[in-house]
Amino acid sequence: MSLTLTVNGADHVVDADPATPLLYVLRDDLRLNGAKFGCGLGQCGACTVIVDGQAVFSCLLPAVAAQGRKVLTVEGLGTAAAPGPLQKAFETEQAAQCGYCIAGMIMRAKALLDAKPRPGEAEIRAGMQPNLCRCGTHMRILRAVRRAAGLPANPAVPA
Ligand code: FES
Repeated sequence: MSLTLTVNGADHVVDADPATPLLYVLRDDLRLNGAKFGCGLGQCGACTVIVDGQAVFSCLLPAVAAQGRKVLTVEGLGTAAAPGPLQKAFETEQAAQCGYCIAGMIMRAKALLDAKPRPGEAEIRAGMQPNLCRCGTHMRILRAVRRAAGLPANPAVPA
């Protein structure tokens, strides 16, 4: 089936089974390899992209369900030479260890900060909660999100 997907502001026509997960189409057809396959079950967040402003697990979303909607991937935020504000904040805070989760983390943070540019600490933690980092850099990731939001690096830990 022919699907038309709008990704990072550009329309792409791909030939795919409509039930194919959006993640596979992004990676295999469009060669956008930022979003990663971690669990395939909506449990890790490595595949997180933004669809119409909402962070979604692209491993669970059928590609056909993304038609007519705006898909944003980490590639749409900037490049290595010209990183966007969140990418720069993650780099500055050295938030990646192996880096596998980071594209998903950044997109989760992007959706959070787009919805609420200066979230409270509890809101940041709740917002980032669906995404896991098996290296354990969560504290640096939280600092990067705070940095991107212009918040203090070390707020009081919420109750
Ligand atoms: Fe999608 Fe883990 S790969 S949530």
